[in-house]
Amino acid sequence: MIKISVNLQDRSYPIYINTDYAQIGRCVQSARLTGRIVLITDTNVDKCQSEECIKAFLDEGYEVSKFVIPAGEENKNLETTRDIYKHLLGLKLDRNATLIALGGGVVGDITGFAAATFLRGINFVQIPTTLLAQSDSSVGGKVGVDFEGSKNIIGSFYQPKFVYINVNTLKTLPDRELRAGLAEVVKHGIILDDEFYEYIDYNVHKIFNRDEAVLQYIAKKNCSIKASVVEKDEKEGDLRAILNFGHTIGHAIETVMDFALLHGECVSLGMVGAMRMAQYLEMIDESLVNRVKGTLDKIGLPTKLEGIDVDKVYNQMFYDKKIKGRKLIFILPRKKIGEVIQCTIDDEDLIKRVIASLGE
Ligand SMILES: NC(=O)c1ccc[n+]([C@@H]2O[C@H](COP(=O)([O-])OP(=O)(O)OC[C@H]3O[C@@H](n4cnc5c(N)ncnc54)[C@H](O)[C@@H]3O)[C@@H](O)[C@H]2O)c1
Ligand SMILES: [Zn+2]
Repeated sequence: MIKISVNLQDRSYPIYINTDYAQIGRCVQSARLTGRIVLITDTNVDKCQSEECIKAFLDEGYEVSKFVIPAGEENKNLETTRDIYKHLLGLKLDRNATLIALGGGVVGDITGFAAATFLRGINFVQIPTTLLAQSDSSVGGKVGVDFEGSKNIIGSFYQPKFVYINVNTLKTLPDRELRAGLAEVVKHGIILDDEFYEYIDYNVHKIFNRDEAVLQYIAKKNCSIKASVVEKDEKEGDLRAILNFGHTIGHAIETVMDFALLHGECVSLGMVGAMRMAQYLEMIDESLVNRVKGTLDKIGLPTKLEGIDVDKVYNQMFYDKKIKGRKLIFILPRKKIGEVIQCTIDDEDLIKRVIASLGE
């Protein structure tokens, strides 16, 4: 089992990476979690993962009760949170209790939010089962729900006691979801690690074959990269902003397309946009744009969007909760892969030219 530490003073915690659920009981023990355990999962993950996971707890002598929420982003809201609270209340839990999120980012975000707020905070553990959750959402402590059409608008920073990644959960994950998760993985390479970027590009085929060794290496690298950023900047100051590479345009496309595309698919388009922006600003050569585009094409992620509505996407960018004032912030590659800088750009023509280029 691989172990990575996220160092955040008294909120520090380990991330374990494994190829099955067998060690979960031991991890609960070393985190000194002695209270009752409630596993929260969604209807899809319940069908293919929860039995094996719960068995691993039982084998180690832990009792686990399960609560299943409906799958899908549309259920990451206060109504579902209320259902979770009601269930917890019925169990008469005390503050030693632990909520375990078994699922993707939706389950992780809402379970973390319930854990952060129930009884003013009970223990929280993540067992992420999508590539997006294993490489991105389970590290960093951002928890929350959507409200009145705004994504992640209600929430908190709440760190788990530990994260347990079983890479073989990806065997039941649909390819489209795996692909979308890979967008964030590629992003980590582009912002901080060119060797890792090359590794992903070289191993695309093995990733889709769910090669255990490759998936473990990817989980390890991803978590280390995200943890290093979060350790230096837990509450989203300037450094953590580099994780938004590809997201300025990506988020806007996601909303304008009314969530018909997955988040990772929009990030893929946004990354191509950011590369183009850097090219137009003469910060990088066109060959670098094509290199990134080539990797994303190989993965099967979208790199162009026919019929893109330039004005709509442009206007939508100003609704991003991360923008400061009326100026748009872009994370752009700095000369090469593995290094980025944050740029404030208010050249409307340039931005629109970049968005339009995604339609060609
Ligand atoms: N907290 C953060 O820092 C952070 C970062 C990025 C994204 N997010 C959030 O994460 C969410 C997206 O996460 P996601 O992409 O994991 O989506 P998701 O949780 O909706 O999972 C995607 C789909 O795959 C299914 N699924 C999950 N694991 C499976 C498995 N192993 N086998 C079969 N099916 C499986 C789910 O039921 C769902 O239908 C969004 O709500 C986003 O806001 C949070
Ligand atoms: Zn993202």
